[in-house]
Amino acid sequence: MTSATILNTTVDDAGNPISGSAEAVADYDNAVDLLLRYHPDVVPAAESIAADPHALPMGQVFMAYLTLMSTDVPDIAGAREAAAALAAVPLNERETAHAAAINAWLDGRWHTAARTLDELLVRWPTDVLALQIGQILDFFVGDAQNLRDRIGRSLPSFDPEHPRTGFVRGMHAFGLEESGHYDRAEATGLAALDRNPDDVWGVHAVVHTYEMQGRIDDGIRFLRAREGDWGSGNLFTTHNWWHLALYLLEAGRYEEALAIYDAEVHNDESAGISLEMLDASALLWRLALDGVDTGDRFAKLATAWAPRVVDEPWYVFNDFHAVIALGGAGRTDDARAVVERLERYVASAPVQPGSNRAMTAEVGLPASRAVLAYTEGRDDDVVGELLPIRTVFHHFGGSHAQRDVLERTLTESAIRSGQLDLARALLDERLSQRDTSVYGLLGRARVLAQRGADVQARAAEEQAVANRGRFDAAAS
Ligand SMILES: [Fe+2]
Repeated sequence: MTSATILNTTVDDAGNPISGSAEAVADYDNAVDLLLRYHPDVVPAAESIAADPHALPMGQVFMAYLTLMSTDVPDIAGAREAAAALAAVPLNERETAHAAAINAWLDGRWHTAARTLDELLVRWPTDVLALQIGQILDFFVGDAQNLRDRIGRSLPSFDPEHPRTGFVRGMHAFGLEESGHYDRAEATGLAALDRNPDDVWGVHAVVHTYEMQGRIDDGIRFLRAREGDWGSGNLFTTHNWWHLALYLLEAGRYEEALAIYDAEVHNDESAGISLEMLDASALLWRLALDGVDTGDRFAKLATAWAPRVVDEPWYVFNDFHAVIALGGAGRTDDARAVVERLERYVASAPVQPGSNRAMTAEVGLPASRAVLAYTEGRDDDVVGELLPIRTVFHHFGGSHAQRDVLERTLTESAIRSGQLDLARALLDERLSQRDTSVYGLLGRARVLAQRGADVQARAAEEQAVANRGRFDAAAS
């Protein structure tokens, strides 16, 4: 790919105006291509293009986003440095809009940052960095509609033959999936992969469509057949391995799920990145809900989370998963300390709409209280915390698949506390969306058995076993 200088205005690969020499802009375009692939070389590439803000302001923009997208508190300092450097150099209009988005994000106004990138994209729809970061922000704030529509507004402006357009289709596939258009999501995602088999975000989009439809056998075959494209050598491996482990859980292959956890999700060599540790928390919690012995994994994970929860709250989706790890490890006092810290945080200042404080107050805090209550056997309290907010779980970010940990916790507590009408309703709702769900059928069998409906309970269990057998065969 090349950049060009036209009438004293340099443009990037997509033809958008950018400050810098043609050589510097070519390096920027290369960094964008690496980010689209989640290629590890994106880190040194970012450091290189951010070396001189006067030479390439978009280098600072790129570095700020790369650090902010980790959601890790220690990375914020790097983003602040980049923002300060941006403030000291001349910027064109597009670069100014990026700086505004970064400053909003740094200010904790996550939704404003997302909206600012939306406005930028109305004018420069092919700014692929704005598109990718915008979609990540939509994901962080759980905005399923904009996950779909942000990309839908821009996609027609891309040259269908351009190599990057495949990656944009991969983004669109994820947005289509999160907003429930599973057939289109699958077709769009597979088309994206035809163009770029190493589009790991596109792989992830297709994986979600299988998860949400209960097509566990298709999902296992898909990931196994393409493991060479996503399984190693990129910065998104952990999360796609996590998805494979979820499939294997549904197939009853617990040992394999644990083996994936140990090899790919969290181990002694893991870097302690929040976005990876939250996958670890969620997987262990699901295994524990299924009655699987997870050994000392919760304890090790809780130790890894501990340094992440002493700072000023930044992104409550992470804090919630830290509570899962601490609670799962039996460190109830530490889990309670995180909950109390979140309570103080919410009370310490006015809750601005669209901020982390708002996400904490509305969902993150009651969800964390629910996890603490679950670990203490207070099932009525779990239901009391989660039931009133289940229609807005998405307001604290993540995907449907990630937030399912809350639905499962609520369902389990409903069963344990004898709230069988509620449990039945939750399980029937799940099975109405994906009738193959082994988890759903086994839950239905438990509820029926508790009600003395033994014949129907056995039928549900037999159906679960038959489905599990089909999934197991796909994994064999
Ligand atoms: Fe996912």
